Amino acid sequence: MQLERLSWFPGHMTKTRRMVTAELGNMDAVCEIIDARIPLSSRNPDIDELTAGKRRIVVLNRVDQADPDMTKKWAAYFRSLGYAVIEVDAKSGAGVKQFAPAVRALLKDKLDAYEAKGQVGRVLRVMVLGIPNVGKSTFINKVSGRKTAKAEDRPGVTRGKQWVPVDRTLELLDTPGILWPKFEDPEVGIRLAFTGAIKDDVVDIEELAMRLMDYLGRNYPRAIFERYKVTAEDGDDGWALLQKAARRRGFLISGGEVDTERMSRILLDEFRGGKLGRFTLETVPEEPS
Ligand code: G4P
Repeated sequence: MQLERLSWFPGHMTKTRRMVTAELGNMDAVCEIIDARIPLSSRNPDIDELTAGKRRIVVLNRVDQADPDMTKKWAAYFRSLGYAVIEVDAKSGAGVKQFAPAVRALLKDKLDAYEAKGQVGRVLRVMVLGIPNVGKSTFINKVSGRKTAKAEDRPGVTRGKQWVPVDRTLELLDTPGILWPKFEDPEVGIRLAFTGAIKDDVVDIEELAMRLMDYLGRNYPRAIFERYKVTAEDGDDGWALLQKAARRRGFLISGGEVDTERMSRILLDEFRGGKLGRFTLETVPEEPS
């Protein structure tokens, strides 16, 4: 796995950090978009430090692709940290209607104080942050009815900050620039690659598929049985399962060898396309005893 190649563009990140810090004083809250399938790996590691002192709302996005029981556990976990939490499928729009009421509930004491001072109708401002591909643009578009095409997020392509109204008294700040995930942790890189958040041309497909099969074999054996008709016998690791699945599908190359590369692409495509079911790849941290 060539994950060390993934620690890109630190300069760009510095610019983003500076922008977040500069704008934070004008914000009532910070909204963090997280991928419900990988709620730890899809976070920027510096976000707590960057947004210290601000009220926080977590959007658990892609719940249509995540394990529903695990999503409940993750929502409870983030609530236990003091965040407001909503569960969303930004693509279909399911759950986005909870956003404005959740923000107002989070800021209720502030709103009450404004009202007591006669400042009814004061606009609430929320900064939206998320790592690339988490669904930030899709979420903002759905929650606001914004129609514009996705702004370029590529390094080197500059775009200004954008204020996006949700309703008369709630505005989002769509932050330009990129907040990277914790690339220095190879496990994080692998999980982002499983979900497709990292492009396949920078990772070794067979190694990635073998690791995914290994995870599924241990945690979701029924799913791989139903899809590929393979079962993990004693000692079967991800590679063995991948070979069995390739054989089952009849993916053979000359000499009777199985075409594991073809099977790898299919496994990753089918996993990402939801054909194997809904999965969450990270479990809630244990409470410190
Ligand atoms: P970003 O701004 O955070 O970089 O991500 P963006 O909104 O562009 O979303 C990245 C991809 O993820 C898009 O797919 C988008 O449709 C999809 N997506 C976002 N949220 C959800 C969700 O809750 N559920 C599912 N299933 N998909 C989601 P795409 O293939 O790039 O484009 P499209 O063909 O779907 O429009």
